[in-house]
Amino acid sequence: MGKIFVMDHPLIRHKLSLIRDKNTGSKEFRELVNEVAMLMAYEATRDLPLTEAEVETPICPCKTKVLAGKKIGVVPILRAGLGMLDGVLRLIPAARVGHIGLYRDPETLEPVEYYCKLPGDITERDLIVLDPMLATGGSASAAISFIKNRGCKSIRMMNLIAAPEGIERVRRDHPDVDVYVACVDEKLNDHGYIVPGLGDAGDRLFGTK
Ligand code: PRP
Ligand code: URA
Repeated sequence: MGKIFVMDHPLIRHKLSLIRDKNTGSKEFRELVNEVAMLMAYEATRDLPLTEAEVETPICPCKTKVLAGKKIGVVPILRAGLGMLDGVLRLIPAARVGHIGLYRDPETLEPVEYYCKLPGDITERDLIVLDPMLATGGSASAAISFIKNRGCKSIRMMNLIAAPEGIERVRRDHPDVDVYVACVDEKLNDHGYIVPGLGDAGDRLFGTK
Protein backbone atom coordinates (compact mmCIF):
# COMPACT_ATOMS: atom_id res chain seq x y z
CA MET A 1 0.00 0.00 0.00
CA GLY A 2 1.29 3.50 -0.86
CA LYS A 3 2.52 5.59 2.04
CA ILE A 4 1.18 9.00 3.02
CA PHE A 5 3.80 11.50 4.14
CA VAL A 6 2.45 14.59 5.90
CA MET A 7 5.22 17.20 5.83
CA ASP A 8 4.38 19.35 8.78
CA HIS A 9 7.72 21.16 9.04
CA PRO A 10 7.24 24.54 10.82
CA LEU A 11 8.33 26.51 7.71
CA ILE A 12 5.82 24.63 5.58
CA ARG A 13 3.04 25.14 8.13
CA HIS A 14 3.79 28.85 8.42
CA LYS A 15 3.81 29.41 4.67
CA LEU A 16 0.67 27.31 4.27
CA SER A 17 -1.15 29.59 6.72
CA LEU A 18 -0.25 32.58 4.52
CA ILE A 19 -1.36 30.69 1.41
CA ARG A 20 -4.74 29.88 2.97
CA ASP A 21 -5.39 33.52 3.90
CA LYS A 22 -7.96 34.95 1.49
CA ASN A 23 -6.23 38.34 1.73
CA THR A 24 -3.04 36.96 0.17
CA GLY A 25 -2.88 38.26 -3.41
CA SER A 26 -1.77 36.35 -6.52
CA LYS A 27 1.84 37.54 -6.50
CA GLU A 28 2.50 36.48 -2.94
CA PHE A 29 0.37 33.34 -3.36
CA ARG A 30 2.48 32.24 -6.35
CA GLU A 31 5.75 32.86 -4.49
CA LEU A 32 4.57 30.96 -1.42
CA VAL A 33 3.26 27.97 -3.39
CA ASN A 34 6.65 27.66 -5.09
CA GLU A 35 8.49 27.98 -1.79
CA VAL A 36 6.38 25.26 -0.17
CA ALA A 37 6.80 23.04 -3.25
CA MET A 38 10.58 23.44 -2.98
CA LEU A 39 10.56 22.50 0.70
CA MET A 40 8.32 19.53 -0.03
CA ALA A 41 10.59 18.38 -2.88
CA TYR A 42 13.45 18.30 -0.39
CA GLU A 43 11.51 15.78 1.71
CA ALA A 44 10.06 13.86 -1.22
CA THR A 45 13.55 13.16 -2.61
CA ARG A 46 14.99 11.95 0.69
CA ASP A 47 15.33 8.38 -0.62
CA LEU A 48 17.22 9.20 -3.85
CA PRO A 49 20.07 6.74 -4.26
CA LEU A 50 23.68 7.88 -3.78
CA THR A 51 26.91 6.53 -5.19
CA GLU A 52 30.54 6.73 -4.05
CA ALA A 53 32.69 9.53 -5.46
CA GLU A 54 36.03 11.15 -4.75
CA VAL A 55 36.88 14.85 -4.87
CA GLU A 56 39.97 16.86 -3.96
CA THR A 57 39.28 19.36 -1.22
CA PRO A 58 41.88 22.16 -0.82
CA ILE A 59 43.32 19.96 1.95
CA CYS A 60 43.31 16.38 0.61
CA PRO A 61 41.42 13.77 -1.43
CA CYS A 62 38.01 13.01 0.06
CA LYS A 63 35.74 10.01 -0.41
CA THR A 64 32.20 11.28 -0.64
CA LYS A 65 28.75 10.60 -2.12
CA VAL A 66 26.90 12.07 -5.09
CA LEU A 67 23.46 11.37 -6.53
CA ALA A 68 23.47 8.10 -8.46
CA GLY A 69 22.00 9.94 -11.41
CA LYS A 70 18.55 8.43 -11.25
CA LYS A 71 16.43 10.23 -13.80
CA ILE A 72 13.59 12.32 -12.42
CA GLY A 73 10.50 13.60 -14.22
CA VAL A 74 8.09 16.19 -12.91
CA VAL A 75 4.50 16.22 -14.13
CA PRO A 76 2.37 19.22 -13.14
CA ILE A 77 -1.38 18.82 -13.60
CA LEU A 78 -2.55 21.94 -15.45
CA ARG A 79 -3.32 24.51 -14.48
CA ALA A 80 -2.67 24.69 -10.78
CA GLY A 81 0.20 22.18 -10.72
CA LEU A 82 2.24 24.72 -12.71
CA GLY A 83 2.31 26.84 -9.56
CA MET A 84 4.57 24.22 -7.91
CA LEU A 85 6.86 23.56 -10.86
CA ASP A 86 9.54 26.26 -10.49
CA GLY A 87 9.99 25.49 -6.81
CA VAL A 88 10.60 21.82 -7.53
CA LEU A 89 12.91 22.57 -10.48
CA ARG A 90 14.99 24.84 -8.29
CA LEU A 91 15.99 21.73 -6.31
CA ILE A 92 16.04 19.29 -9.22
CA PRO A 93 17.09 21.42 -12.21
CA ALA A 94 17.91 18.45 -14.46
CA ALA A 95 14.41 16.98 -14.19
CA ARG A 96 12.43 16.68 -17.41
CA VAL A 97 8.91 18.08 -17.36
CA GLY A 98 5.68 16.53 -18.69
CA HIS A 99 2.35 18.30 -18.70
CA ILE A 100 -1.12 16.87 -18.21
CA GLY A 101 -4.09 19.15 -18.77
CA LEU A 102 -7.16 18.22 -16.75
CA TYR A 103 -10.06 20.18 -15.45
CA ARG A 104 -12.79 19.11 -13.13
CA ASP A 105 -16.27 19.33 -14.61
CA PRO A 106 -18.10 21.62 -12.17
CA GLU A 107 -21.34 19.58 -12.42
CA THR A 108 -20.10 15.99 -12.28
CA LEU A 109 -16.73 16.74 -10.56
CA GLU A 110 -15.28 14.21 -13.05
CA PRO A 111 -11.84 15.04 -14.58
CA VAL A 112 -11.75 15.93 -18.29
CA GLU A 113 -8.37 15.55 -20.09
CA TYR A 114 -7.46 18.24 -22.63
CA TYR A 115 -3.67 18.00 -22.96
CA CYS A 116 -0.85 15.53 -22.46
CA LYS A 117 2.78 16.00 -23.47
CA LEU A 118 5.41 13.85 -21.78
CA PRO A 119 9.19 13.49 -22.29
CA GLY A 120 10.18 10.67 -24.69
CA ASP A 121 12.08 8.72 -22.03
CA ILE A 122 9.32 9.10 -19.44
CA THR A 123 9.15 5.35 -18.70
CA GLU A 124 12.77 5.37 -17.44
CA ARG A 125 12.14 8.19 -14.97
CA ASP A 126 10.97 8.40 -11.38
CA LEU A 127 7.99 10.75 -11.63
CA ILE A 128 6.64 13.35 -9.24
CA VAL A 129 3.10 14.46 -10.10
CA LEU A 130 2.29 17.97 -8.87
CA ASP A 131 -1.06 19.48 -7.94
CA PRO A 132 -1.68 21.82 -4.99
CA MET A 133 -5.13 20.31 -4.31
CA LEU A 134 -6.19 16.70 -3.78
CA ALA A 135 -9.95 17.04 -3.29
CA THR A 136 -12.11 14.13 -4.50
CA GLY A 137 -8.91 12.64 -5.94
CA GLY A 138 -10.54 12.24 -9.37
CA SER A 139 -7.99 14.45 -11.17
CA ALA A 140 -4.98 12.91 -9.47
CA SER A 141 -6.22 9.38 -10.05
CA ALA A 142 -6.89 10.08 -13.75
CA ALA A 143 -3.50 11.77 -14.23
CA ILE A 144 -1.71 8.84 -12.63
CA SER A 145 -3.68 6.42 -14.84
CA PHE A 146 -2.68 8.40 -17.97
CA ILE A 147 1.01 8.19 -17.18
CA LYS A 148 0.77 4.54 -16.13
CA ASN A 149 -0.93 3.79 -19.47
CA ARG A 150 2.16 5.27 -21.15
CA GLY A 151 4.34 2.76 -19.32
CA CYS A 152 5.48 4.70 -16.23
CA LYS A 153 5.97 2.67 -13.07
CA SER A 154 7.65 4.80 -10.45
CA ILE A 155 5.23 7.56 -9.50
CA ARG A 156 4.82 9.73 -6.43
CA MET A 157 2.26 12.47 -5.89
CA MET A 158 2.86 15.85 -4.22
CA ASN A 159 -0.02 18.06 -2.99
CA LEU A 160 -0.17 21.08 -0.73
CA ILE A 161 -3.57 20.29 0.75
CA ALA A 162 -5.49 17.02 0.65
CA ALA A 163 -8.96 15.98 1.74
CA PRO A 164 -9.25 12.57 3.38
CA GLU A 165 -11.52 11.54 0.47
CA GLY A 166 -8.78 12.33 -2.08
CA ILE A 167 -6.13 10.40 -0.21
CA GLU A 168 -8.47 7.44 0.06
CA ARG A 169 -9.24 7.56 -3.68
CA VAL A 170 -5.56 7.60 -4.71
CA ARG A 171 -4.74 4.82 -2.25
CA ARG A 172 -7.61 2.72 -3.62
CA ASP A 173 -6.93 3.33 -7.34
CA HIS A 174 -3.12 3.44 -7.13
CA PRO A 175 -1.88 1.53 -4.09
CA ASP A 176 1.68 1.66 -5.46
CA VAL A 177 1.86 5.49 -5.33
CA ASP A 178 3.27 7.36 -2.33
CA VAL A 179 1.53 10.66 -1.54
CA TYR A 180 3.37 13.66 -0.05
CA VAL A 181 1.11 16.35 1.40
CA ALA A 182 1.72 19.45 3.49
CA CYS A 183 -1.62 19.13 5.29
CA VAL A 184 -4.67 16.87 5.44
CA ASP A 185 -7.77 19.01 5.88
CA GLU A 186 -11.11 18.20 7.41
CA LYS A 187 -13.49 17.40 4.55
CA LEU A 188 -15.03 18.41 1.22
CA ASN A 189 -17.99 20.76 0.95
CA ASP A 190 -21.04 20.19 -1.28
CA HIS A 191 -19.17 21.70 -4.26
CA GLY A 192 -16.17 19.42 -3.82
CA TYR A 193 -13.99 22.17 -2.33
CA ILE A 194 -11.60 21.33 0.48
CA VAL A 195 -12.64 22.72 3.89
CA PRO A 196 -10.94 24.83 5.17
CA GLY A 197 -8.61 24.56 2.13
CA LEU A 198 -7.45 27.64 0.26
CA GLY A 199 -10.24 28.15 -2.26
CA ASP A 200 -9.66 27.62 -5.98
CA ALA A 201 -5.92 27.13 -6.42
CA GLY A 202 -5.88 27.85 -10.16
CA ASP A 203 -7.87 31.06 -9.79
CA ARG A 204 -5.72 32.30 -6.94
CA LEU A 205 -2.47 31.50 -8.79
CA PHE A 206 -3.47 33.07 -12.06
CA GLY A 207 -5.88 35.79 -10.92
CA THR A 208 -8.83 34.40 -12.85
CA LYS A 209 -12.50 34.73 -11.75
C1 PRP B 1 -8.27 21.71 -9.30
C2 PRP B 1 -6.97 21.24 -8.69
C3 PRP B 1 -6.96 19.77 -9.01
C4 PRP B 1 -8.43 19.43 -8.92
C5 PRP B 1 -8.68 18.76 -7.59
O1 PRP B 1 -8.14 21.89 -10.65
O2 PRP B 1 -5.85 21.92 -9.17
O3 PRP B 1 -6.46 19.46 -10.28
O4 PRP B 1 -9.17 20.66 -8.96
O5 PRP B 1 -9.96 18.30 -7.52
P1 PRP B 1 -10.32 16.74 -7.49
O6 PRP B 1 -9.35 16.09 -6.55
O7 PRP B 1 -11.73 16.73 -6.97
O8 PRP B 1 -10.20 16.20 -8.88
P2 PRP B 1 -9.33 22.51 -11.54
O9 PRP B 1 -10.20 21.42 -12.06
O10 PRP B 1 -10.01 23.59 -10.77
O11 PRP B 1 -8.58 23.09 -12.80
P3 PRP B 1 -7.52 24.29 -12.88
O12 PRP B 1 -6.24 23.82 -12.23
O13 PRP B 1 -7.37 24.48 -14.34
O14 PRP B 1 -8.11 25.50 -12.19
N1 URA C 1 -9.81 22.47 -6.54
C1 URA C 1 -9.37 23.60 -5.91
O1 URA C 1 -8.69 24.44 -6.53
N2 URA C 1 -9.69 23.77 -4.62
C2 URA C 1 -10.39 22.86 -3.93
O2 URA C 1 -10.65 23.09 -2.73
C3 URA C 1 -10.85 21.71 -4.60
C4 URA C 1 -10.53 21.53 -5.90
